[in-house]
Amino acid sequence: MLILGIESSCDETAAAVVEDGRILRSNIVATQTDIHALYGGVVPEIASRAHTEAIHGVTEEALSAAGVTMDDIDAIAVTNAPGLIGALLTGLSFAKGLAYSSGKPLVPVHHLRGHIAAVYLVEPELKPPFVALCVSGGNTELMIAEDYTDYRFVGTTRDDAAGEAFDKCARVLGLPYPGGAAMDKLASIGNSEAFRFHEGSVDGAPYDFSFSGLKTSVINTVHTEQQRGRVMDDTFRADIAASFTKAVVKTVTGRLEMLLQNSDPALNVVLSGGVAANSHLRKACKDLAEKYGRKLYLPPLKLCGDNAAMIAAQGYYEYMAGVRGDLSLNAYATKRV
Ligand code: KG4
Repeated sequence: MLILGIESSCDETAAAVVEDGRILRSNIVATQTDIHALYGGVVPEIASRAHTEAIHGVTEEALSAAGVTMDDIDAIAVTNAPGLIGALLTGLSFAKGLAYSSGKPLVPVHHLRGHIAAVYLVEPELKPPFVALCVSGGNTELMIAEDYTDYRFVGTTRDDAAGEAFDKCARVLGLPYPGGAAMDKLASIGNSEAFRFHEGSVDGAPYDFSFSGLKTSVINTVHTEQQRGRVMDDTFRADIAASFTKAVVKTVTGRLEMLLQNSDPALNVVLSGGVAANSHLRKACKDLAEKYGRKLYLPPLKLCGDNAAMIAAQGYYEYMAGVRGDLSLNAYATKRV
């Protein structure tokens, strides 16, 4: 079965064709990062307009790279939540039009379920149930995937997502948007003991995350050091990046460890989302999984960030479970997984 996936929840316009939820036939991503870099972050209105311009061409390219036409496609899977509402509506409206004109079924897909499904494309033996940790630019969420379309919520961020904190801290260090990958490299050469940043926690909700206080603490530290006359050289940037990364990794792995201690010991772990590209987080999660005798499944770097292959992969399982959207299908900026 061939699923055409469409993704436009933030600043990537993407389309892909996936066979039977597991085999990648094509994966086209048109990123807008250069446009948003001018402003230091995603400008929602500009993102929606850029999606409108790119979506048709990106979809045609995905079909042609897969060597298929719309006639060969069995269903159209589209991200309808969560994300920037205007951006989501662009992809959703396009997918609805395509479904209507081609007579193909439309399948709504939750973006975070998609991030997790990215791993199905590279790990043929991976099957639910498993522990799922999704750490991305807009979300940080800990779940148990009971089945392909049945997720049990465990914890989420109460404020910023981890990726957002990476990008804001990178910005105060003068690094271009999105700064997550640059922070990763700097952290590898910095001293993680140079500054003490504490992990955020939420009273009464031990599995929830909080990154806003950590982000503010980094920004204040940078400003204070600058006022004291400290030059923002590579050593300083690397030490901040390493100390910040250490706190993020501790926050994320702390909750994961608690869940591994308190859930079925047979559950393996899936780490996904844009921040799953972080080498320090990958290593820490791998070490943790090993400590508890679990297997850690990771997406390859090219499938960590937003893409439509992951939406098509999850779309297959949603389709098989009978999930369908009609022309009244709406988009939602926030939605539980
Ligand atoms: O998954 P994604 O494309 O967006 C959402 O679905 O929300 O993730 C993008 C985020 C950005 O914040 C980016 O800075 C971050 O992932 N990111 C990283 C790394 N590579 C990308 N953060 C830390 N380390 C990295 N290597």
